[in-house]
Amino acid sequence: MTATTPTPDELREIPLLSTLSDQTLTVLVDYFTTADFRSGQSIVREGDVGYTFFVIRSGHVDVTQGTETLRMLNPGDFFGEIAIKSSDGKRSATVTARDDVEVWTMLGHGLRRLEVEHPDVAKALQQAAAERKSTE
Ligand code: CMP
Repeated sequence: MTATTPTPDELREIPLLSTLSDQTLTVLVDYFTTADFRSGQSIVREGDVGYTFFVIRSGHVDVTQGTETLRMLNPGDFFGEIAIKSSDGKRSATVTARDDVEVWTMLGHGLRRLEVEHPDVAKALQQAAAERKSTE
């Protein structure tokens, strides 16, 4: 049976979180919950209001806008940060499972708290969001 929260060791493997201390990672596990998606299922849809942040545990996703594919994301990558950071709260793209996908999800307030307490994480998220928006 799949655990509903990650372990600190699993979180340390995620590049975005790899600089955090053991103590922080231990606190962070309770912010996350696990979700599964089948191949072809939409995880978020462009234009929807969303308040969840996702980290890919296993599987791959396609990021699309309209009919255009922007990127494929892999295990350890994250998505969903743009809607949380934007004033209208809307998803900038559709994210679809390419194969069976397992994610860890965190609500926006957890992500905001993480950013306030860890400026290096905030900076990495900011950079990713800026790069992603510039390629849309
Ligand atoms: P959000 O807008 O909340 O939901 C869709 C997500 O797709 C978005 O956050 C980003 O995490 C991700 N995304 C959007 N554009 C790109 C891109 N060009 N490259 C990679 N990921 C992207």
